[in-house]
Amino acid sequence: MLLLDVVEHAASRFAEVGIDSALVDAELLAGHVLGLNRGQVQAEIIRGGFLTEQQSELLNHLYARRLAREPLQHITGLAYFRNLELKVGRGVFIPRPETEFVAQLAIDALRANLAEAPAPIAVDLGTGSGAIALAMATEVSQAQIYAVEKSAEAMPYTAANFEAYSHSEAILIQGDLANAFAELDGKVAVVASNPPYIPVAMIPRDPEVRLFDPELALYGGQDGMSVIHLVSATARRLLIDGGTLIIEHADSQSEQVCQLLLADGWRDVRAHQDLTSRDRAVTAKK
Ligand SMILES: C[S@@+](CC[C@H](N)C(=O)[O-])C[C@H]1O[C@@H](n2cnc3c(N)ncnc32)[C@H](O)[C@@H]1O
Repeated sequence: MLLLDVVEHAASRFAEVGIDSALVDAELLAGHVLGLNRGQVQAEIIRGGFLTEQQSELLNHLYARRLAREPLQHITGLAYFRNLELKVGRGVFIPRPETEFVAQLAIDALRANLAEAPAPIAVDLGTGSGAIALAMATEVSQAQIYAVEKSAEAMPYTAANFEAYSHSEAILIQGDLANAFAELDGKVAVVASNPPYIPVAMIPRDPEVRLFDPELALYGGQDGMSVIHLVSATARRLLIDGGTLIIEHADSQSEQVCQLLLADGWRDVRAHQDLTSRDRAVTAKK
């Protein structure tokens, strides 16, 4: 089979069912089967490359999974986040591009104080795949990073990712963020969290999210704020005076999160916009 025909056919079927990134996904899945990156797949298409029968059978099987709206990252088993390649699959939240700027806020806060505190401690609450924690650990090597994740289903992926980046010496525990790391009370410079924040009644429209992301990663109670309350309380316990809290939230929640933090006694509460100019994170100082 001509690679061009197989990829184009898949891309048009993906587009028909409403997959936004139809051609990209078709090319990336072809690359997954052929052991090529996307640019190399495009070059192979231009060269008039062919698939063997076995390759085309495997690829069509993967295309059928994607047509059923299984996320691309579950099919390839990988998600890319900043400089990291993370293992993902059923049971763990796929890290999103917008969280990369939340990790940047945490990294900036850690770097800002290296002169006074050369080995700062940072904590990631609800680490999922380990995205924010491992970004901090690999990009600020002087920092000691701790992370907590509650979900037993996520944990095999979380643990595998911490193992893959074990040189960073980041520490992972399984547990509830509400009572995690009592031994670090008053010693932490930065707490970062991308908690579940969707109100339970607001079921996401995208099947990839609704059917494949774990509920524990998505829903934050009636108003979406229940885990954000816990993050605020835990961060107040963990942080040193002057320490920084960073919380990701939905684009409609900035005001609500700012008010919650002010009511909890935080100072210097600031809203931050992602690269698409949407309010997606709040920082505050203890
Ligand atoms: C939106 S996901 C974010 C995951 C990861 N930090 C990221 O940005 O990709 C929220 C994560 O918090 C975890 N979580 C939810 N409630 C928790 C709790 N009470 N204690 C610890 N982790 C929790 C979920 O299992 C999920 O992995």
